[in-house]
Amino acid sequence: MTDERDERPLLAGVCGDPIAQSKSPRLFRHWFETYGLAGHYVPLKVAAPDFPDAIRGLQKAGFRGVNCTIPHKISALEIADEVSDSARAIGAANTLTFRRDGSFFADNTDAFGFIENLRIGAAGWDPPSAPAVMLGAGGAARAGIFALLEAGVPAVRVLNRTREKAQKLRDHFGERVEAISWNERNDALAGSGVIVNSTSLGMLGNPPLELVLADASKDAVVTDMVYNPLETPLLAAAKARGMIAVDGLGMLLHQARPGFRTWFEIDPDVTAGLRAACLEGVR
Ligand code: ATR
Repeated sequence: MTDERDERPLLAGVCGDPIAQSKSPRLFRHWFETYGLAGHYVPLKVAAPDFPDAIRGLQKAGFRGVNCTIPHKISALEIADEVSDSARAIGAANTLTFRRDGSFFADNTDAFGFIENLRIGAAGWDPPSAPAVMLGAGGAARAGIFALLEAGVPAVRVLNRTREKAQKLRDHFGERVEAISWNERNDALAGSGVIVNSTSLGMLGNPPLELVLADASKDAVVTDMVYNPLETPLLAAAKARGMIAVDGLGMLLHQARPGFRTWFEIDPDVTAGLRAACLEGVR
């Protein structure tokens, strides 16, 4: 079936406030060029109260869909006519598809991006073989926990400065999630197969994450959702100990794939060229 959207250049974008920092326009431009598509992916600064009107306007203007970032990830779920399992379980959506029949489909692709990055970066990782450790309990942690549970880890130990938030995640995801006090984080690494930082610690301008890896197995994989700098102090410490360290840029790149595939019918590749295109401004 064709409609008048097919006559126009391909249109999509990312809604957020602020939005100037988003790497997604660069990422999509690289894919449009790689696949020879005439398309535009635009950063859209949309204030929280304007989100529903903006979405309807973009749909009328012929957009195929949008990515949603802070502060719209919950509104994106609320405006949707249909919600994916991952978006429902995580409680937030980052990818809205404008269907030809006028309805909105909300998905959360952060979990997909997280697990793809981990599987590719740590090919020998066997999820069912050992528990995971999740440092942090915000929105990024929710996506990571969902992905780890889906991948088959026996348990996720969640440690957060504000312990109640870790407890809330246990209440939400069930008994495979364990809430542990933040000050027990060094001991909690023992016997784990993957260690994940989803806090903002280690990000440029923030203090590093204080974590002693001595009790962690040398076979455990360490990954950081922070990607600026690309090698966080945590990843540097893991490498120094001979552990596999997976940086966070891949999560950002892989989470964009499902939107591109749904909107433009090509599953795009995450390549060294794409990483380089997105690395400008990253240390
Ligand atoms: P996101 O949606 O990206 O996960 P967030 O919801 O703001 O962002 O979560 C940030 C995470 O970093 C939280 O787990 C936060 O801990 P609190 O829940 O206690 O706030 C964690 N974090 C931020 N600064 C921290 C610090 N100085 N020490 C320990 N944890 C910190």
